[in-house]
Amino acid sequence: MNEVMLSGILNALEDGVAVFDLEGTALFCNGPAYALLHKTPGSVRMLSDLPNEVRAFFGGVRSGRTETVELFGQAVRLAYQDLTENGMRTGAVLILTDLGEQQRADRIRREFTANVSHELKTPLTSISGYAEMIENGMAKTEDVRIFAERIRRESNRMLSLVSDIITLSELDEKQILEQAETVDLYELAEQTIETLKSAAMLRGVSVRLSGGPMPVHGVRTLLSELIYNLLDNAIRYNRDNGSVSVRTSDHTLSVRDTGIGIPKHHLSRIFERFYRVDKSRSKATGGTGLGLAIVKHICEEHHATLSLESAEGIGTEITITFPPVK
Ligand SMILES: Nc1ncnc2c1ncn2[C@@H]1O[C@H](COP(=O)(O)OP(=O)(O)OP(=O)(O)O)[C@@H](O)[C@H]1O
Ligand SMILES: [Mg+2]
Repeated sequence: MNEVMLSGILNALEDGVAVFDLEGTALFCNGPAYALLHKTPGSVRMLSDLPNEVRAFFGGVRSGRTETVELFGQAVRLAYQDLTENGMRTGAVLILTDLGEQQRADRIRREFTANVSHELKTPLTSISGYAEMIENGMAKTEDVRIFAERIRRESNRMLSLVSDIITLSELDEKQILEQAETVDLYELAEQTIETLKSAAMLRGVSVRLSGGPMPVHGVRTLLSELIYNLLDNAIRYNRDNGSVSVRTSDHTLSVRDTGIGIPKHHLSRIFERFYRVDKSRSKATGGTGLGLAIVKHICEEHHATLSLESAEGIGTEITITFPPVK
């Protein structure tokens, strides 16, 4: 392999690579290394041109060592390897890895696991508590029905949580648009309204659908889940005898309610996984805070833009605009 090929390969790497001889003269430095070191290409000639944090790592380290440092606000892992020729040490190779995105992803994953465990533990603890009381004969005959009803309610909460988690992990894993077809959102909205009719009736909330046929290119089950989550929220966070209007026109789906609204300082966070404005109210109605995270994810998959307007005590409107069908 010649030198041109080798430097081509090294420049194609995501990691930064810098090579020095025993005198500390730079023999090679690839593009990502310049970027992570905040140096213009060609400006690293000597070890002494490196930032202090990197020089400090180099000072007296042994081959194979790694260390994470902060370089210009970014977490960067440094690794050092001796360069040898016929068993003789001839120089040093420095490898720089940007940990920024990786660390962020790790943190989100850790938080998600902790939240899931917590959300599952709560209903399980209560299910096992009620079952134990029945088993030990501690529940009076008239209590058994009540306990059974609580066990069923908590199990339903767990079931919906688990199915939300499955949807999210499918969205995380798959190139989901492979199953895309032309779907009419007006028709899908009609079906979803039918599904949630009894929930709306129980609260005296009236649901109206307007607009006309609205074909979009997408995955039917996901789009149906998207409308379901928006409508479910519009009914759930409404007031008694309030109303919801769903509209499909000009590639835009909107769901507007006359509900409790969302306080301004929560607006930026409600699309996060497990985020709820009022934990006790949402929990009392069975919510786990995954609905809007799923909505956001589905919008991204469909290249749709999402916007939200809300006023406390007046209501909320979520508008989703899809790209035109080609
Ligand atoms: N239309 C709305 N009006 C007022 N508040 C809303 C509305 N939609 C969502 N919210 C607030 O945003 C939070 C997050 O909504 P999201 O749908 O993600 O979760 P959830 O409804 O609590 O649970 P899930 O949808 O997973 O069953 C809700 O808990 C609620 O506080
Ligand atoms: Mg919801």
